Amino acid sequence: MPSLTSPRSWTLRSKLVASMVALFLTVSIGTGSLIVLATRDYLARQIDQDLKQTVARSTFGDHDDSHPRGGGPGGPLPGGGAGVLSLVLDADGQVRTDPRSGSPINTAINVDGDQITLDAEQVERLSDVKAGGGPETVDLGSSAGTYRVMAVATSSGTAITGIPTLPITKTVKQLLGLVAAATLMGLAIVALGGAYLVRRNLEPLSRVAGTARAVSQRSLESGEVALAERVPASDTDPNTEVGQVGLALNSMLDNVDGALRARQESETRVRQFVADASHELRTPLASIRGYAELSRKEHEPVPPNVTHALGRIESESLRMQGLVEDLLLLARLDAGRPLDHDPVDLTLLAIDAVSDARAAAPDQVWGLDLPEEPIEVPGDRARLHQVLVNLLGNARAHTPPGTRVTTALHRGSTTDPTRTDVVTLSVIDDGPGIPAALQPNVFERFTRGDEARNRAAGSTGLGLSIVAAVAAAHGGRVGLRSRAGETAFVVELPAA
Ligand SMILES: Nc1ncnc2c1ncn2[C@@H]1O[C@H](COP(=O)(O)OP(=O)(O)OP(=O)(O)O)[C@@H](O)[C@H]1O
Ligand SMILES: [Mg+2]
Repeated sequence: MPSLTSPRSWTLRSKLVASMVALFLTVSIGTGSLIVLATRDYLARQIDQDLKQTVARSTFGDHDDSHPRGGGPGGPLPGGGAGVLSLVLDADGQVRTDPRSGSPINTAINVDGDQITLDAEQVERLSDVKAGGGPETVDLGSSAGTYRVMAVATSSGTAITGIPTLPITKTVKQLLGLVAAATLMGLAIVALGGAYLVRRNLEPLSRVAGTARAVSQRSLESGEVALAERVPASDTDPNTEVGQVGLALNSMLDNVDGALRARQESETRVRQFVADASHELRTPLASIRGYAELSRKEHEPVPPNVTHALGRIESESLRMQGLVEDLLLLARLDAGRPLDHDPVDLTLLAIDAVSDARAAAPDQVWGLDLPEEPIEVPGDRARLHQVLVNLLGNARAHTPPGTRVTTALHRGSTTDPTRTDVVTLSVIDDGPGIPAALQPNVFERFTRGDEARNRAAGSTGLGLSIVAAVAAAHGGRVGLRSRAGETAFVVELPAA
């Protein structure tokens, strides 16, 4: 329901209907008033003309002014005039008597159509009418009504003739009633018909809006997106305003669709390239490593700097192998390669990973916080193991010796521990924390803190992006909470 006080917020439909009704009312009231006024004017002029004719006839050739023909009690005027008031006064202002009938000439027809004798007060009012002047309006009180009256001076006094204005009032009232009724009827037709027509004419606009809404609800950020929604051809006639909007929307959608397709194609190409390149690099890398190892084990005496160089070749190719494996894994996860969906015992996985970490870094304090009963999730064992290895590896690589690292596992999410459909795996350390500036991007590829030191330490910045990608591929997510003294990586995975 549109608010009456703020028409700006009305729907287009309400505005159009309201405008139609307002226009109709303006035109109807204008023409109605004109018709009524013109009719009243015309009737008033008609009465005056009748009055003048009556007076002229009654004085013409009949100098017996004691008996004006103007509708005396003897009968109506010839010619259908309505001279129904006759009053003849002598020079002293006294009512004169008809010599033929002997009755006083002071009669009128009242509002009910009955003949009445004018009383003294009415005679008084009528005697004020100036003889020889034009028609005047005289109110003879509620019983007789209003008259247009003319007085003519005669040799022995004044003859006064009048015609009631009641018929004009009646006609005007009837006409007003008619105009009002016609206006009301027209109003109903305009409001109902207008609402129907406007709704019908705006229907195509609703369809265009529907298409736009459908598109706006699609998620277009990533992945294969085909924008199939289009405004139907029937709503794209360029000769109509709505058609122009529909046409414009369609060409915009074509454009966006094309751009999305191009983006998707180039993404696929890049992904494919990375996958192919990493795959192709695996074999030569393995050979380099193998030959380096073989040469290092050579029994013939080799200069120590060559031994050192061979050792470096071996360790660097090992590191490069890790990088290539990471890149290949990310490319495969990006491509949406299906993962295994076997039941994985996370408790066991955590125990294994933590004991490996303890062995690799005895300087840190490695703790476990596990529930009584084992927790299983459906997933890919190797990938989930990698998640733990990456998180524990970070806690080892980016914290000083003596840091306490706790691996915790429990049911429920961090926000709602009662949830049964989620399992939470966290790796928490009391190290120096991740710089605030780094935190928003820490899950992005090749993001690492303290570049120079990390690069030297063999850090690539892919570890956490793999954690995020594996969690997402399992339908879960990873979050980070970090400040000096506490850094927590929290992985939420859907439970079995
Ligand atoms: N537990 C942590 N404490 C402090 N800083 C951390 C911790 N975990 C990660 N970081 C910071 O986040 C950065 C990104 O970590 P990520 O695992 O993605 O890459 P990386 O460890 O540098 O390299 P990679 O894991 O590929 O060998 C790290 O370089 C480090 O600066
Ligand atoms: Mg790492």
